[in-house]
Amino acid sequence: MPVKRPSPGDLEPIETASRDEITALQLQRMQWSVRHAYDNVPHHRQAFDTKGVHPDDLKTLSDLAKFPFMTKTDLRDNYPFGLFAVPRDKVARLHASSGTTGKSIVVGYTLQDIDNWANLVARSIRAAGGRSGDMLHNAYGYGMFTGGLGAHYGAERMGCTVVPMSGGQTERQVQHIVDFQPQIIMVTPSYSLVIAEEFERLGITPDQISLKVGIFGAEPWGEGMRGEIERKLGIDAIDIYGLTEVMGPGVACECIESKDGPVVWEDHFYPEIVNPETGEVVPDGESGELVFTSLTKQAFPVIRYRTRDLTCLLPPTSRAFRRMGKISGRSDDMLIVRGVNVFPTQIEEQILRDQKLSGNYQILLTRDGHLDNVEVRCEVQRELSHTLSPMQIDAISKELQHHIKTNVGISTRVNVMEFDSIPRTQTGKARRVVDERPKQN
Ligand code: DLL
Repeated sequence: MPVKRPSPGDLEPIETASRDEITALQLQRMQWSVRHAYDNVPHHRQAFDTKGVHPDDLKTLSDLAKFPFMTKTDLRDNYPFGLFAVPRDKVARLHASSGTTGKSIVVGYTLQDIDNWANLVARSIRAAGGRSGDMLHNAYGYGMFTGGLGAHYGAERMGCTVVPMSGGQTERQVQHIVDFQPQIIMVTPSYSLVIAEEFERLGITPDQISLKVGIFGAEPWGEGMRGEIERKLGIDAIDIYGLTEVMGPGVACECIESKDGPVVWEDHFYPEIVNPETGEVVPDGESGELVFTSLTKQAFPVIRYRTRDLTCLLPPTSRAFRRMGKISGRSDDMLIVRGVNVFPTQIEEQILRDQKLSGNYQILLTRDGHLDNVEVRCEVQRELSHTLSPMQIDAISKELQHHIKTNVGISTRVNVMEFDSIPRTQTGKARRVVDERPKQN
């Protein structure tokens, strides 16, 4: 697929700075960030003290390895605002993402944080080939998810005309694209293919579609999917990466001229790759778990946050910053279903609300066309086995489906089975997740 817009536009000076300039800026900002966290967040102060490190010990970038990690559990334990480093009335906005159970994890932003975020998403859109004056169709979900508003503010900052479509309503999405003629779309890769199918259904061919660039993220996708999206929509498909805890979309983004992995915006986020077992930092090029330290965030600084995403760091190409490889998997059991983050324990929690169900369950993931399907298999309690009528079983299933939809946020098919129907493994442990979705290459 030819690159339709190869010129990188006007880059910010830091995007082409020398490595020395970048590392000097990183060190200065990291020293500020670590001190800011220590001075203002009791959790960080306590964690540093326990590990016997102090912000004064950070004399070089590699000294960061002496500092403690931060995990999702820390966010859960400090729910909702315990990790905020500014008074609540300085927090301009909250966003949230899935926790491992019940409560979400909550993050906050000052006005300055939102300003930086908008600049970084604007930088990402420019790297993807977007220009001031372009129209951008934003189909990331608006709300507590960072995708919608994160992309929106960045697109406005870029000087784009934003269509704040949000997710769903495929027919209307396509109608708006046909009528308004946007050049850029931001959406999850899987949903972009649903949109592409709707174009196909209407007999609209790729060369008749106004879109030139798509900026896709929030879920794993590979080169095979990139080729399919580019072919079906007649666009350049660009990878954008981010996570709620660190900011949202725009922590890293690919450049259209190289399409060789998202460039980490290293002037705001310091990446490390660690061995997920030992926590040791591994050299660039080696695979492991991605860890981020925020360098400029005021409301919610993160120090060595373990993303659980497995990837590697790659040398700079189109920009002066390092790139990340494709996410090859996760070091925890989080699933991403149609762009929604789901932990099996969240589903388990809903199953256990119903005393008629045994705690044994299995989550079966399949892909139907381009979209993920989820079947939740569960069992009635031993004493209820073969005693319930089909109507009673149906009622249990409908109620669980409803609870999962409202509390976890995904649609599922619930299959209530007799006791002992779900196969146990040889070790006696149930296999909670059976993921039959084709692997992304
Ligand atoms: O998904 C933020 C985002 C929105 C990124 C829109 C890009 C576009 P969370 O909901 O917190 O935030 O989910 C973060 O999603 O740790 C990865 O596992 C996965 N993820 C995000 N972007 C990519 C990507 C948003 N480009 C989690 N490739 C992350 C693979 C991705 N996985």
